[in-house]
Amino acid sequence: MADTDSSGISFTAYYTSQVWRQHGLSSPAFDFLPAKTLWWLGRPVEKFAEHVLGVSNDIMLLQRHHIIDDIVRRAIREEGVTQIVEIACGLSPRGTRFCEEFPELHYLETDLPGMAAHKQTLLEKNRLLSQRHRVCSINILEENTPDALASVFGRELDQARKTLVITEGLINYFDLPTISGFWKRLAAVLKGFPAGFYITDLYPDFKWHPVTRFVDTFVHGLAFVTRSRVSLHFGSEAAIREGFTGVGFGECRVHIPESYYGVLPIPVQRLSSLVRVIENRV
Ligand SMILES: C[S@@+](CC[C@H](N)C(=O)[O-])C[C@H]1O[C@@H](n2cnc3c(N)ncnc32)[C@H](O)[C@@H]1O
Repeated sequence: MADTDSSGISFTAYYTSQVWRQHGLSSPAFDFLPAKTLWWLGRPVEKFAEHVLGVSNDIMLLQRHHIIDDIVRRAIREEGVTQIVEIACGLSPRGTRFCEEFPELHYLETDLPGMAAHKQTLLEKNRLLSQRHRVCSINILEENTPDALASVFGRELDQARKTLVITEGLINYFDLPTISGFWKRLAAVLKGFPAGFYITDLYPDFKWHPVTRFVDTFVHGLAFVTRSRVSLHFGSEAAIREGFTGVGFGECRVHIPESYYGVLPIPVQRLSSLVRVIENRV
């Protein structure tokens, strides 16, 4: 049987959660001392990267988070989406923020069992859960188990609602064949809803970028500490679109941070951006 244990990745969610806290995107409900410690430990590298290389992890994290929020908001307002599943939610505050902003929205947060249990505890403690805002476990690598995508969607979701799925900070931890298997299964289940959308961030393999060597070093380091196959996917926008339509999505739009400078409150990076946000519809 294929290895489906990718829990070595989970601690990275604490770093990002502290970034959301530092930038006013999250709430005290998600305060967690190890997250703060991780964030402080990362400061020297972050400052070096930002000032010397002109790029930084925090800038990319904020760019992707704001752009995803913007696309999701439009899907709710303009496409009538009423059900959202955030896969690999970590301690993302998005479910809490969106449930407050949109009183009709149903929001299911999902992650590996350990992280899902932690999120459930924090949300419960702060009375932030409700009938329409829930947490459950999922493992995107599993098939035919209770935590497999099809089982969770079949059991937990209302098949009559227009549904949008988000993954943020997940897909580059897997090699392309592995993550494509998940995308195929996702596109197939989303076809069972009146409308289905999938929004994700993605770090492409931009060999032309001036900091490629630094990015490669970062990728190797991250793969080592998370015991995963961190990989950059696709070398161009056309390849991204082909990649997603090839696994069963009908329409694919690639969003680039530069289009949002001055439009959304995202930090501007001195060099060309490295992250993309992909908007798919089945
Ligand atoms: C970098 S964190 C991102 C968390 C959150 N989305 C964010 O942006 O702050 C990666 C998340 O993926 C989750 N994860 C790792 N392997 C997974 C799997 N096989 N299925 C579902 N989630 C997984 C981890 O537990 C972790 O919460």
